[in-house]
Amino acid sequence: MNSIYTARRSKLMENKQGPCLVCIFSGSAPMKSLDAAYPFYVDRNFYYLTGIERENMVLLLRKNHLGEVSEMLFIEPYDEVLAKWVGGRMRAGEATEISGIATIREIADFNSVLNSIIDSTRGLGKLQVYLDMWRHREDQADTPAHTLAAHLQKRYPNVAIEDIFGDMAAMRLIKSEDELALMRKAQQTTCNAILAMLQHAAPEMNERELEGAFDFSLMKQGVRDHAFGTIVAGGGRATTLHYENNDQVVHDGELVLIDLGSAEGNYAADISRTFPINGKFTDRQKEIYNTVLEAQNIVMKNAKPGITTGALNQMVIDYYESRLDDLGLRKDGKTVRDYYYHGVSHSLGLDTHDISTGRNILLQPGMVITVEPGMYIEEEGIGVRIENDIVITADGNEDLSFMIPRTVEDIEKAMAK
Ligand code: GLY
Ligand code: MN
Ligand code: MN
Repeated sequence: MNSIYTARRSKLMENKQGPCLVCIFSGSAPMKSLDAAYPFYVDRNFYYLTGIERENMVLLLRKNHLGEVSEMLFIEPYDEVLAKWVGGRMRAGEATEISGIATIREIADFNSVLNSIIDSTRGLGKLQVYLDMWRHREDQADTPAHTLAAHLQKRYPNVAIEDIFGDMAAMRLIKSEDELALMRKAQQTTCNAILAMLQHAAPEMNERELEGAFDFSLMKQGVRDHAFGTIVAGGGRATTLHYENNDQVVHDGELVLIDLGSAEGNYAADISRTFPINGKFTDRQKEIYNTVLEAQNIVMKNAKPGITTGALNQMVIDYYESRLDDLGLRKDGKTVRDYYYHGVSHSLGLDTHDISTGRNILLQPGMVITVEPGMYIEEEGIGVRIENDIVITADGNEDLSFMIPRTVEDIEKAMAK
């Protein structure tokens, strides 16, 4: 496995001019209460470059002024006592085996090693230090990268902080065959679990039981990882895009919108389906459903290299615009945006809303994106979203979610079984 990670690190360093450093933290689980921590979620860039999923590690890549690249991985020491309680930390040999990085150092030495490297570059001009400076929200707490950036800027006048985000996005946006194999696997386990849920569904069932049917099937398949918090929204609750309470009863005659996915090797599936709790769509539900389905078909027909996700989204809006009168929805001054208030695609990968440079993505072969038009009619208690995941090919795209029932007929058939 380690040749994959070695190749990714080489590629990242290939275009860099020395002297420079790249420094990526694996992260750590925040504390929840007293001695309990939240589950650990490894930094996706660290994982992409090392294949290791452990807390409190730092990857340090260096290109010196002669253009020579070296790699170091800083890890916590192996702890025999901890091993008896929760399993040991990773041994140096194992870290090398997974990542392909030969030089493993103790995390306690990180600052002094960094200091001596920076010291050794004095007089050689600016030393560029690449860190992941991403902040999702302006008020988000500093990450270790932000803290290190501030520290270096204060102490070392020859250091110039650079953001590694763009380099990582360019690489992670294009999926390799190895990555696609994991993504296909996630599609299959998600499909099996959706089928189990559809067959379990019945009127007056709590949303939570539907979620349980999905989770039970995943567990039976040996899968515990979800790409994100499962959404099971009955009736009007489906008009809240990220409803996650999943604790209400779904009544006879109502639709259920599910948005969920398993993860395989941390690669996400992101699937939405909408089905009638009693197994049969009404004429009105069918009318709305087929409009969303047609919008999805239009996007799937047009997604190919050279087109942007913004242009694909406009196709959905234009199609809905042409359907608004027939559906009786052009009323009370409402426009398409009152019934469809999100975008049709985002990049998918190690993160569910995966790394990308800007929201309006210019498609290229190897990119994986979602296709997820929706229509939400609050006054009728109807929310429909249909979401498939596709990979862009040389001249079009391939539907990774092809096996998951999608048409009215296929869904009714799956539920009748
Ligand atoms: N599950 C979140 C999304 O579809 O974007
Ligand atoms: Mn989704
Ligand atoms: Mn999505």
